[in-house]
Amino acid sequence: MDYYRQSSLKNYNSFKTEATAKIFCQPTSVAELRQCLSDYPDEKKLIIGGGCNLFFTKDFDGLVIHPQIKGLREISDDEEEDEDIFLEVNASEDWDEFVAYCVERGFVGIENLSLIPGTVGAAPIQNIGAYGAEVKDVIREVVAIDMETGESVSFSNVECEFGYRDSIFKRTNKYCIISVVFHLKRTFVYTPKYFDLNKELEDIDEPTIKDVRDAVIRIRQRKLPDEKVLPNAGSFFKNPYITQEKADKIKADFPELPAFLQKDGSIKTSAAFLIDRAGYKGVRVGDIGTYPYQPLIIVNYGSSNGNDIVRFKQEIQKAVKDTFDIELEPEVRIF
Ligand code: EPU
Repeated sequence: MDYYRQSSLKNYNSFKTEATAKIFCQPTSVAELRQCLSDYPDEKKLIIGGGCNLFFTKDFDGLVIHPQIKGLREISDDEEEDEDIFLEVNASEDWDEFVAYCVERGFVGIENLSLIPGTVGAAPIQNIGAYGAEVKDVIREVVAIDMETGESVSFSNVECEFGYRDSIFKRTNKYCIISVVFHLKRTFVYTPKYFDLNKELEDIDEPTIKDVRDAVIRIRQRKLPDEKVLPNAGSFFKNPYITQEKADKIKADFPELPAFLQKDGSIKTSAAFLIDRAGYKGVRVGDIGTYPYQPLIIVNYGSSNGNDIVRFKQEIQKAVKDTFDIELEPEVRIF
């Protein structure tokens, strides 16, 4: 395995910000991963999967690891009879290729998560979600390497401490995920959960798993920019949770405020709506802007400086704070 010094990270973050890594390597096995951890015990470490949910404002003074650990194994031992399917997938497999693999074989549970960029190993970190589904609902186990000891640690679903776009792996910088065990099903029944998706499928009597994947892909292609054409990192902020009282107050001026009552009595509202009504839909400042069809996405029209993105995100946060008294929290990680 080669080590590269002062290596550019521009092609390893989907926002295309420029920064260098003091040391950069691409282990292709768990043994190589352990090797680089023990070669550089005292360096700060950063793991990059697809690089679709982070960007840089400065050079990284440490070891950047871009694992290339691939492979997939069906654990279930019988052929067609068992309703439950268990698959162990290595972290560097492409997420959407894995979804396509499952949909082709009729393995049910992740079709709503079609076309999300990134790797399988990144999926649990921020508990990816879309169209009423979250990956936490199909994860049985996550296997990771403790970056201090080099030991392998297994996390049950509960031990991953999943939350909305959150997990133990997002809150600590201690683990490098090497594989994920998924628990999928064979029986598919379409359950309407999400307005946009229901609408897309309204002409089909009994949608199949393939219909759902195709519909999700069509919606995403309409609403979300392709990072290869217009660099971005998906939703930039999390959807905020507010009190009922605050929701009522906002509704006096904005009756159409999306408001979803949660089990704990709080209200989940839409960051896209708040940004839109604060006047930041399709706004461009220099080379950074919000996407005209989905203002929750910040897009990069040509800057290589991550600080430009930070300045623009602060401008949006201020506008939303001034208009609604709500603090938007970034979903994307900033280094
Ligand atoms: N809206 C506006 N103006 C707009 C667009 C949207 O007011 O221009 C409002 C509408 O009220 C709409 C609502 O925002 O009903 C929600 O919009 P959308 O269905 O596009 O979903 P979202 O809440 O903005 C979340 C995820 C996306 C995921 C979609 C679909 C987060 C932070 N984002 O976005 O995930 O694809 O739902 O399920 O939870 C990502 O995390 O990177 C991501 C793209």
